Amino acid sequence: MSGTSSDAALLGPAAESTELLRLVACGSVDDGKSTLIGRLLFDTKQVMSDQLEHVEETSERRGDGFFNLALLTDGLRAEREQGITIDVAYRSFVTPSRRFQLADAPGHVQYTRNMVTGASTADVAVVLVDARKGVIEQTQRHTYIAAMLGIPHVVFAVNKMDLVEFDEGRFRAIENDLRELSERLGLRDATTVPIAARPGDNVVEPSDRLAWWGGGTFLEHLESIELAADRDASHRRFPVQWVIRPMSDEHHDYRGYAGQVSGGEWRAGDEVLVLPSGLRTTVAAVETRDGPLPVGVQGQAVVVRLTDEIDVSRGDMLCDPDDAPTAARELEARVCWMSERPVQTGARLAVKHTTRWARAILDEVVSVLDVSTLEQVPADGLVLNDLARVRLRLAAPLLVDPYAENRTTGAFILVDEATNETVGAGMVLAASA
Ligand code: GTP
Ligand code: MG
Repeated sequence: MSGTSSDAALLGPAAESTELLRLVACGSVDDGKSTLIGRLLFDTKQVMSDQLEHVEETSERRGDGFFNLALLTDGLRAEREQGITIDVAYRSFVTPSRRFQLADAPGHVQYTRNMVTGASTADVAVVLVDARKGVIEQTQRHTYIAAMLGIPHVVFAVNKMDLVEFDEGRFRAIENDLRELSERLGLRDATTVPIAARPGDNVVEPSDRLAWWGGGTFLEHLESIELAADRDASHRRFPVQWVIRPMSDEHHDYRGYAGQVSGGEWRAGDEVLVLPSGLRTTVAAVETRDGPLPVGVQGQAVVVRLTDEIDVSRGDMLCDPDDAPTAARELEARVCWMSERPVQTGARLAVKHTTRWARAILDEVVSVLDVSTLEQVPADGLVLNDLARVRLRLAAPLLVDPYAENRTTGAFILVDEATNETVGAGMVLAASA
């Protein structure tokens, strides 16, 4: 895999023409996620000839009877043999206007947690729908997760149109159901596109067999999505990951704070508040290994230098003095429970939030989502893949924002201290001191 968000940001203005779009493909088992991604790679000519030979061989050995594009993404051996996706696989590809990074999430219900992992930083969720089946429970689950994770754009790809004779009526009926679902979940930007990934209709190339469709190809849609507006230009946030203090005499007075910009735009001269100490100072410079930057933006890995020599440590947060995060002791949050082991109210957990840890007690399970009805129902514990609303009490304050305002400072993971296992992913709904 090549390319991370910080790479893209570090390229500066020149990267605008090849802006990075992070996609996660989800949908029920066998809806064609891996095939769609394979088709994208193949039709945009991103596949090496040795990979093609390998796919041809494996297709033959498995007796697929066709050139199985899913094998391009189903990289793990076990998956090739079983023909299903187990882990989240990442692939990237480039078109003249954009760079894409794709996470191929598994369709099985028991892998919901993998989808949460693959989707947490995505700009776009592609939800595959089998044209024969229409909207099913797994469509609702994945769309719900996309909404919960605040993924700004959702594209529903109604796949296998070849198996419904490319029928417009069938497509429009599904499109209606998806519109209802999107409204119910409050999605900001959702589009539905008909495709047939295996034969390749309307993915990269337009198709005569979908002549009634005037909405452009799937790839054209991905290329037209506006990302700039998704970035948070206000709410300056910078969790300190490392304090840089070179040991050599020559730079004895150098001190910088390394981390990733988690909100807002950072420029020399800006006032900052250091939390939790409450000290104030000014930004002296925002720089990378290549020198100072005019501005550091969200997602970018930078070093911030301050004008005053004040005490700042790993785990501290630099922020806008007029708009600081809440130093929270109580969190109300949405949580996806990712452990095989269930948990009960009263359990002790560790919370990792940006660059900081705190101990917590699961004070209350407020409700758990019933995926078939999309209603919240009462519960007193959580089991694997539950999507719930909970209250947590923290032993030490964490500097949080509501997830709806900031996908970094509003997110956390839950860890079982005894086993070190990540047992949950959380999104802050509300925080109080
Ligand atoms: P998991 O990773 O197991 O969740 O499945 P997936 O969603 O990645 O599905 P995959 O791409 O492996 O495709 C499942 C089956 O559907 C394969 O046999 C594909 O060849 C077939 N398939 C995918 N797209 C199409 C299509 O557009 N038309 C037809 N007829 N078959 C398709
Ligand atoms: Mg797959």
